[in-house]
Amino acid sequence: MTNVLVTGGAGYIGSHACKALKTAGFTPVTFDNLVTGWQDAVRFGPFEQGDLLDPARLEEVFAKWQPEAVMHFAALSQVGESMKEPGLYWRNNVQGSLNLIEAATSAGCRNFVFSSTCATYGDQDNVVLDENSAQHPINAYGASKRAIEDILRDYEVAFGLSHVIFRYFNVAGADPEGEVGEFHQPETHLIPLLLDAIDGKRDALTIFGTDYDTPDGTCIRDYVHVCDLVDAHVLGLKWLQDGKGSRVFNLGTGSGFSVREVMDHSRSVTNRPVPFKEGDRRPGDCTRLVSGSTRAESELGWTPSRSTLDTMITDAWRWHQSGHYEK
Ligand code: UFG
Repeated sequence: MTNVLVTGGAGYIGSHACKALKTAGFTPVTFDNLVTGWQDAVRFGPFEQGDLLDPARLEEVFAKWQPEAVMHFAALSQVGESMKEPGLYWRNNVQGSLNLIEAATSAGCRNFVFSSTCATYGDQDNVVLDENSAQHPINAYGASKRAIEDILRDYEVAFGLSHVIFRYFNVAGADPEGEVGEFHQPETHLIPLLLDAIDGKRDALTIFGTDYDTPDGTCIRDYVHVCDLVDAHVLGLKWLQDGKGSRVFNLGTGSGFSVREVMDHSRSVTNRPVPFKEGDRRPGDCTRLVSGSTRAESELGWTPSRSTLDTMITDAWRWHQSGHYEK
């Protein structure tokens, strides 16, 4: 069986990716420092605890497992935090990724799948965001991911590192079989916060800004189901194994929903009211981020099947009610 090193395999997206990899016949080897991840979420292959800022540990893990490919999910990913603590993002995301890329190339591993983000595009009103759109991030998180994309391009030129870059839109939902799901501590993402508010587990949801230039004044995002997203990663891995070379793919559905629309759908899915209040804008938030590309569908053969907003909220709600991991 082919070993794939999955950084951040104990996290939300990484744990779903490990399940998809196992299902597809790969052995996912999770590398995670458990700062934001959960050991309970490592269920589909071996676990190596370690930090990307520790090159010696990385070298050891590459020597032990000799992975054919890397899937790199480990990162800090909160837009708001990145505006307050940019150094954290440059150190963890950029330096950590550079260490990983160097360890991979030194170990002869030449296939690399990278989680990037639509936050690298920044605020570009009325522009259709496809893979050729300019990247002008407006927060340190997006800037850190764009920098890693640049590093990958340089390492391809110098060392032949083939890479697939996925620029995610907003990932939501959970494994419908309930084995893994979304749980961040602290939680900052809209759908889990909203479900907490519905469930009385926290105070009312605060809408961050109601004066954006959108039909209802709240920000618009393109939500994609985590299971569909990780399916694309398995296809990306096969793409690299087939020698098709480096490529960038947006992963979104092309449909945008405002914060108020997500609240309305959550109300109808759960059949419960959403306690909310209106607040100020959150620094670093873009007005509208919606994918304008079908490249993943046409070139990778990606066929998202769970990415309607109601299915994502239904799956997230089921997970939400089933309990969470323990540290
Ligand atoms: N929002 C609220 N109240 C909250 C939380 C969020 O109104 O309590 C709003 C945000 O302002 C934003 C939308 O809900 O308009 C979505 O916010 P999230 O925090 O759920 O997601 P972000 O769009 O900020 O960021 C997420 C991921 C990033 C990724 C990005 C791409 O965290 O990793 O999507 O848009 F890059």
